[in-house]
Amino acid sequence: MSIITVTGSASGIGAAVCEQLKEQGHTVIGIDRQKADVVADLSTAQGRKAAADQAIKSSNGKLDGLVCCAGLGVTAPSSSLLVSVNYFGTTELIGLLQSALSKSESPAITVIGSVAATQQVAKPHNLVELMLNNDESAARELADELGQPHVAYSSSKYALTLHCRRLAVKHGSNGIRLNVVAPGAVETPLHEASKNDPRFGEAVRNFIAPIGRNGQPSEIADAVTFLQSPKASFIHGSVIYVDGGMDAMMRKGNM
Ligand code: NAI
Repeated sequence: MSIITVTGSASGIGAAVCEQLKEQGHTVIGIDRQKADVVADLSTAQGRKAAADQAIKSSNGKLDGLVCCAGLGVTAPSSSLLVSVNYFGTTELIGLLQSALSKSESPAITVIGSVAATQQVAKPHNLVELMLNNDESAARELADELGQPHVAYSSSKYALTLHCRRLAVKHGSNGIRLNVVAPGAVETPLHEASKNDPRFGEAVRNFIAPIGRNGQPSEIADAVTFLQSPKASFIHGSVIYVDGGMDAMMRKGNM
């Protein structure tokens, strides 16, 4: 069976992904700030390097998969921290683990984006450009200057999704499949904190998917484990919405 690294393994969606992968017989190397095989802080360059080094060491230099779930929501201590974890904590780790992944027969990466990436607030934003230009210090500075965590969040997920799509095209021939899963509202500690936030709580509570309920972490993990499996061998560069119809509702009239 395969060796798969999962970030954000200690909670919510990441924990559900680890559980399913282990049930399927895979070896999982969890990365998180706490309660993980590899305890590391993905908000810093040193933390990302330490996480990658330990994951490579634990897998003897060959990894079959990477699932990037670590992330912060609108209640993050600061917008700069959110940008560092959600965007750079994922994109830099993918770069650092690419060579170990390329040693596998059929490597696959799944990145957790968000339905929030399709919100208009993110697209034209300078913050997106700074992230895509890999300028972490300028992106952090602008994020804090704006002081709008919901803009930082949607921008981080928009930039992350675009980065992954570009990477999928650029590196298609190196054999590493790369897809994004974009969840809607999923009942996790991150979502609970947003629901209780005095600034965003009401909007989050009223944002109900057409299907009439929020998702469970296991329903996101179902999509992730499928994408990591050989059954998804021709799926590459895709964004799969697992959102109870939220994207269809928000972008009705668009594909
Ligand atoms: P969660 O809060 O339950 O889990 C996130 C995990 O990321 C935690 O274990 C946390 O310790 C870890 N993490 C945060 N900062 C880190 C850092 N600096 N270094 C290492 N690990 C760090 O949240 P949830 O909901 O499971 O979120 C997982 C992903 O799903 C996130 O990327 C989030 O943006 C995304 N998402 C969640 C949605 C939801 O409604 N729950 C909706 C759409 C996307």
